Amino acid sequence: MNELLKNISGAKNVEYADFVREYEAKNKTSILKLQTGDPDFSTHPNVVKAMLASIEKGKTHYTNSPGIPDLRSALSEKLVRENKINSAPENILVANGGVHAIYLAIRSLINPGDKVIIFEPYWMPYKSILEISGANIIKVPLDLPHMNEETILNNFKKAYSNDVKLIIANSPNNPTGMIFSENFYKDLLNTISNETILLSDEVYEKILYDKAVHVSPASLGIKSEQIISVFSFSKTYAMTGWRIGYLHASKVLNKEMLKLLQYTSTCVSPFIQDAAIVALKDNAVNAHVDEMVKRYAERRNLLIELKGAVMPKGAFYCLIQNPTHLGEVNFSRWCVENIGVAVSPGDAFGENLPFFRVSFAVDDTTWSEGIKRLSTVLKG
Ligand SMILES: Cc1ncc(COP(=O)(O)O)c(C=O)c1O
Repeated sequence: MNELLKNISGAKNVEYADFVREYEAKNKTSILKLQTGDPDFSTHPNVVKAMLASIEKGKTHYTNSPGIPDLRSALSEKLVRENKINSAPENILVANGGVHAIYLAIRSLINPGDKVIIFEPYWMPYKSILEISGANIIKVPLDLPHMNEETILNNFKKAYSNDVKLIIANSPNNPTGMIFSENFYKDLLNTISNETILLSDEVYEKILYDKAVHVSPASLGIKSEQIISVFSFSKTYAMTGWRIGYLHASKVLNKEMLKLLQYTSTCVSPFIQDAAIVALKDNAVNAHVDEMVKRYAERRNLLIELKGAVMPKGAFYCLIQNPTHLGEVNFSRWCVENIGVAVSPGDAFGENLPFFRVSFAVDDTTWSEGIKRLSTVLKG
């Protein structure tokens, strides 16, 4: 077994999901699962139809590894129009989901011992992929629960040195729901050297509340060649199971990442790519996206009264302060056993994080009942 792989952490949420399933089976009960990051909505039928039509046309063979030309063109047009990124089709690589794009970026850049900054709390796969790569991980706190950008930037500047190879930023953020502003990115980009790469994970770009604005750091005209921007169809279009995402980067970086894409998956299935073009361009599909975001916003409103909830500005998660002295994993188990609600333990996102995470990518009934039961615990 590969020693680095054997030693990686990150299985806590998987262990917890196993515990929830076993608990349900043993007690013949059903638990309200507020720990998933998978939209409860179905993929729009127009996208499904496009996929079926593509298969019927015989599009069942390998495609060019970076992505089919029509999709790369549509994606670069979208990045120019919506993200204000100066993009051409050659800057795009189509990958098997955002996580694959992130894997390609980290694995193609990092040598053992290289310094990498991640903000804590973080989405666990960053840490795990960095660990497999032998990276020297430096964690910069996100200043919970205030999430003050000035404080975060000060934390960042203290941790940063010119030999940091990579910084991973995620906005809208999982799990905090925080959104980095234009000024935040400008300051960060003006601080870093010409050797440091910024990996900007923007998979929740469309899920925004209270008129929040998403900023793509690659649009700011500062060190753009050093930025790898990652996007996905998973969350925006409720297409998690389709496994399609993409990245934008300089041609120099893409040349290396493409090798890894070829060796890890050859290409994304052609019929999935054809369906993705429809997701991008079809008006009904995009109206569906707006509708889903509206529904998330309504669910988010239920959090306002909840004691200890850190209100998210984007994505569909909320961190809530653990009201007990139980450790995070024990508290999450306690919630299953006592109120029949599964939440993600803070330990899944950082060390000694006195929070737990709920997700409102669940159906309305589960959400409102889950919040009702949690509020009895949070009051006490
Ligand atoms: C912050 C973040 N980035 C990336 C991803 C990857 O999503 P996918 O691989 O489905 O595109 C997720 C999924 O939960 C996520 O939360």
